[in-house]
Amino acid sequence: MNNVAAERGLWGHRPLIRNGRSFPSGHGLFTRGSWTVPGFGRLYEMNRLGPEDYQSNRHIRKLLTLARATKRDVFYDLGCGRGQLCVVAVTEFGVKKAVGIEMHAGRAAKAAAYVEKLDLSDRIEIRNEDFVDSDIRDATIAYCGHYEEEDDVAHFERELAPGSRFVTLFLPFVGVLPTAADYPFYLMEVPFKRTTDASLWTSKVLFRSATVAELYRELDTDREYRYDKRTFKQLMKKRLTDR
Ligand SMILES: C[S@@+](CC[C@H](N)C(=O)[O-])C[C@H]1O[C@@H](n2cnc3c(N)ncnc32)[C@H](O)[C@@H]1O
Repeated sequence: MNNVAAERGLWGHRPLIRNGRSFPSGHGLFTRGSWTVPGFGRLYEMNRLGPEDYQSNRHIRKLLTLARATKRDVFYDLGCGRGQLCVVAVTEFGVKKAVGIEMHAGRAAKAAAYVEKLDLSDRIEIRNEDFVDSDIRDATIAYCGHYEEEDDVAHFERELAPGSRFVTLFLPFVGVLPTAADYPFYLMEVPFKRTTDASLWTSKVLFRSATVAELYRELDTDREYRYDKRTFKQLMKKRLTDR
């Protein structure tokens, strides 16, 4: 059994609870943070950091091209797993520095050993931390493949310098207009360009004009993207006006 199957099989359809909110397991996007799993007599706490579900090199090139990565950049992968995004950023795009933040100690150690083996330790730093607590102020490009949490827009706008670029997977931040996209990646630039216009935002997400109901229908039936509907719909209601 591969790691993805092992982790999905292990947790089955048990609800996962984080910060008092529960989500179905296997929602298709990466989970993040510290999770508790009820049903084992006492609350069984663990770090449920999601499967080792990594981007292929072709997708990595796509996202770094979208972000216009060059030798002037400092690239951060927020949740770096094995560290391959950092390796491609340095070896193929020539970024002057790449930082992989990984909360899972074993994955961070493996990534650091991989970087060492490739003799890239002078240009790639792997940090075993929660990216929410990381100092990312020198980033000019950051990638985060995790679903959006409510504070993300304010947090990353506060932490990142004006002019820096942020790439997300599957959806841009709700209410933020991407400046470019190459699906499944969306590029946003700091300061984020916000809109309250639901149809404008939806058209940037789906690459055609569509109502919010059509967007929900499309996401609901998307085989590769099973999203956290509750948080997403709450953010949509809070930030966008559906005319
Ligand atoms: C699915 S992997 C993606 C790895 C790599 N970015 C890629 O796209 O190939 C997501 C990684 O994020 C890590 N992670 C989840 N939440 C995190 C957090 N809050 N801080 C740092 N790492 C986190 C997980 O442990 C996991 O290794």
